[in-house]
Amino acid sequence: MNILEVIYSRRNIKSFKSNPVSMDQIHKWLEVASMAPNHKMTEPWEVYFIGDNTRTKLNHKTNFFGAPVVFAVLSKHGATDIETAENAQATACFVQNFNLAAWAEGVGTFWSSMGIVEKNRQVLGVPEGYDVIGVFGVGYPEEINKPKERTPIQEKIKYLS
Ligand SMILES: Cc1cc2nc3c(=O)[nH]c(=O)nc-3n(C[C@H](O)[C@H](O)[C@H](O)COP(=O)(O)O)c2cc1C
Repeated sequence: MNILEVIYSRRNIKSFKSNPVSMDQIHKWLEVASMAPNHKMTEPWEVYFIGDNTRTKLNHKTNFFGAPVVFAVLSKHGATDIETAENAQATACFVQNFNLAAWAEGVGTFWSSMGIVEKNRQVLGVPEGYDVIGVFGVGYPEEINKPKERTPIQEKIKYLS
């Protein structure tokens, strides 16, 4: 797949095979994800791999759709609100880089925003001064959903004088 095909075909996966995913591959995709743009080279992302014990405590209603690997991605706050916003934006780029790198090699991700909830922050042991950008199930997809239609981009564009 070329990069446009990778971007276009990626889906939020809601059904995983139980086959393991190589941790070496996951580390490789995280490494490449860290080439994400980040202002002032803050590299604000941190990744917490979630073992069975923590996964059970998180008690996601779907158990991450059977994904063999689950991790959370945190974003460190900056010294100012602007830097904190920039860091979250950079971490979202990191996440999407990971998602696309994995997808290009046949591995899908499920994105859950559950880490925003205080109870789940506590389960994950998130320190003060960090946002949880998402908790991700990672694995080989059992099913790939049809694309969700997007609004034609022209409807989202303004041309300023
Ligand atoms: C910040 C963020 C949070 C999300 N949280 C959830 C979530 O809690 N549960 C869920 O099912 N999908 C979640 N998603 C995935 C979106 O629902 C999904 O990307 C959207 O429906 C479009 O589908 P697609 O990614 O397959 O194109 C989240 C996506 C983003 C960017």
